[in-house]
Formats: sequence, structure tokens, C-alpha cells
Amino acid sequence: MDLHNHLVPGVDDGCADLPESLDALRTLYAEGVRTLVATPHLLLPRLGTDAAIDSELDIQRRAFARLAERLEGARDVPTVGLGQEIWAPDAAALRRVVARPDVGLGGSRALLVEFGFDLTGTHMDVVRTALEAGRGIVIAHPERYAYPPGVEPLELMRQWREHGALLQVNAGSFSGHYRDHRPMSEALAWAMVANRLVDIVATDHHGPRRAGVSPLEAFGRLAARGEQALALGAMVERPGAVLRDETGEEAPEAVRTRGAGA
Ligand SMILES: [Fe+2]
Repeated sequence: MDLHNHLVPGVDDGCADLPESLDALRTLYAEGVRTLVATPHLLLPRLGTDAAIDSELDIQRRAFARLAERLEGARDVPTVGLGQEIWAPDAAALRRVVARPDVGLGGSRALLVEFGFDLTGTHMDVVRTALEAGRGIVIAHPERYAYPPGVEPLELMRQWREHGALLQVNAGSFSGHYRDHRPMSEALAWAMVANRLVDIVATDHHGPRRAGVSPLEAFGRLAARGEQALALGAMVERPGAVLRDETGEEAPEAVRTRGAGA
């Protein structure tokens, strides 16, 4: 499964057109991805009014519909759903969309949220705002953030999780694909593994202009370190539970078994 990528064509800095999307979807399918939720950027700080949010979501929905139409009947691509990667640096930003039924990962109550690459605090107000509104919150790529002085990244991640957030690591982080932008990202991703802080692994695929988007490579790296069970949990079981709105509770055994084949 893949719950974070930019494969809706022509709406953000991900895939530019339908052929790019199809190519990426076929490659992911060949790697074993069977379900995918596309998450175009919803850059709330750049959308000044509710009308601007409406318009942006509408553009994304139409582009997704064109993609879904093109995929109809195709056998070599994952099943696709629509979500968003919501840039919400503070509670006020998230409040603008938190009650919208058309916002969330593939129709679930979970929101994929990024705080901005340079954290300005703990952003716990954003986590609380989502949870108090009855939503789930998946924090996008915490291994890639720059943490403010005095904030210990793993400790803050632990606090986010204790409040009920899930943490999503980018597949490419395990092989150092974001080293140039964030030298610590690879080490942080592995430290998250060691500290059992990885809930979900996703590609954050941006189309052909960005490398390091292979779930198979990430799976291989994790398995090589004896973390096959964590990899399965983060790439199949937990994302499935999120889409079924089962977050926050242990999935029953039957669901775990079913999920393993997804
Ligand atoms: Fe993203």
C-alpha cells in the first residue's frame, strides 16, 4: 500500500501528466503495491480563503477523476483513492479543513499532515486539533524535519504518538535519498525503527524527477536488518487499518491475516 504520493497528474510538484502517472503506477504495481491513495499537496498557508481551498480541492478531484477514468479496466496498476498531504503548521490552519468530509485519506477519517520542513515548536496543537475533531492524524516524514534547538526529535515523535498520531516515514529515507536536503534523515529513520516509532512507510513519490521512491528497496533494507515484520506492518497492515478507520486500536488477528495479502 502507499498512502503518500503525488501521482495525481498536473496538480502539484508531482507527476506532470497522465503518462507520468501511469508509468509510476505501473512501476509501483510491479513492486507489489495493490492499493494507493494519492495525496496532492494542500498548502493551507497559501490558500487565503475558504473559496481558495474549495477551488484547489475541486481541481485535485477533477484531475483524479481523469486519472481514475484512464485506469478503468487496467490490470497492472494499483487500486487508487484520493487524499491530500495537508500543510498545517498550526491549529488555526488545520481547523479550516478538519471538519470537511471531502478531506482525508481515501475517504477515511485520517488526515495526512505535514508541519513544514523547519519545525517552529512541537506542533502538538495540530495533533490535538485533528484528534479532538474525531479525525486520525498521520504525520508525514518526521525524519525529514529540522527540529528546533532543545527539541530531541525522537522524544517529540514519542509524544506525538502518545497523543495518538501515527508517524509515516518515506521509503527513500532508509537508503539516504534525502541526505542532501536533510543529512540526518537516514539516521533518524533508522533510529525510529530501533525505537519502534515507525507506523507507516510510504513513497512520497513525485514522479520521474525524484528518485528514492521504491517500496521494494525499503522493504529489502528493512528485511536485511531483521525488520521484516515491521516492514510488513508499516507497508501493508497499518495503512490498511488506517483506511478502514481502525487506527488507535490493535487490529484483530483476522484483519492482520487478511491485510498481509493486500
Ligand atoms: Fe509529500
